[in-house]
Amino acid sequence: MNNIVILISGGGSNMQALVQAAQKRNWQGRFNAKIAAVISNKATAGGLQLAAAAGVPTQVVDHTAFTSHADPRAAFDETLANTIAQYDPKLVLLAGFMRILTPGFVQRFEGKLLNIHPSLLPVFAGLNTHQRAIDAGCQAAGATVHAVTAELDCGPILAQATVPVLPSDTAQTLATRVLSQEHLIYPQAAEAYMRENFRRA
Ligand code: GRF
Repeated sequence: MNNIVILISGGGSNMQALVQAAQKRNWQGRFNAKIAAVISNKATAGGLQLAAAAGVPTQVVDHTAFTSHADPRAAFDETLANTIAQYDPKLVLLAGFMRILTPGFVQRFEGKLLNIHPSLLPVFAGLNTHQRAIDAGCQAAGATVHAVTAELDCGPILAQATVPVLPSDTAQTLATRVLSQEHLIYPQAAEAYMRENFRRA
């Protein structure tokens, strides 16, 4: 079985799109793949309830529990990596996961670690991408699925989708339009990855 682990921090709509695609598009039969767990750094992440309702095991690794460590970020990342490793994942998907990961973490999963970012990378890496696109007068915006490397939001691009930026757009209306495209390209990119990398038998 090729296990997939999904990391979330919030509402988990991308995670939900992936879980639904796995079920509706028979990832188990086609790629011998299963979403083995949804893991969040926030116990309050709404996506945890969505995952549980879909029958997917969930776990929380609370990043605020590491503040007493000499290097809290490294200690959190190591615990998170060990938690993920328990599933022996062949693919780890960051889906609205709002932590900057240390190089040590990335090295453990590089090559099977993907992320979705709400801009047309390499433009607007980082946060507040929709407001920045509006402020820059962009006429198009979108989302990117990319391989995760130690440098934030800069890994090889696997998929992109573009949407128009309308004169009436606010960051929220643009975010909603982009998010609907994210829910399409992430499952598609995951399937392309599995087709290329997962052993069927
Ligand atoms: C999405 O725009 C995603 O691109 C970004 O976080 C936002 C919320 O994602 N990383 P989700 O609804 O929690 O999947």
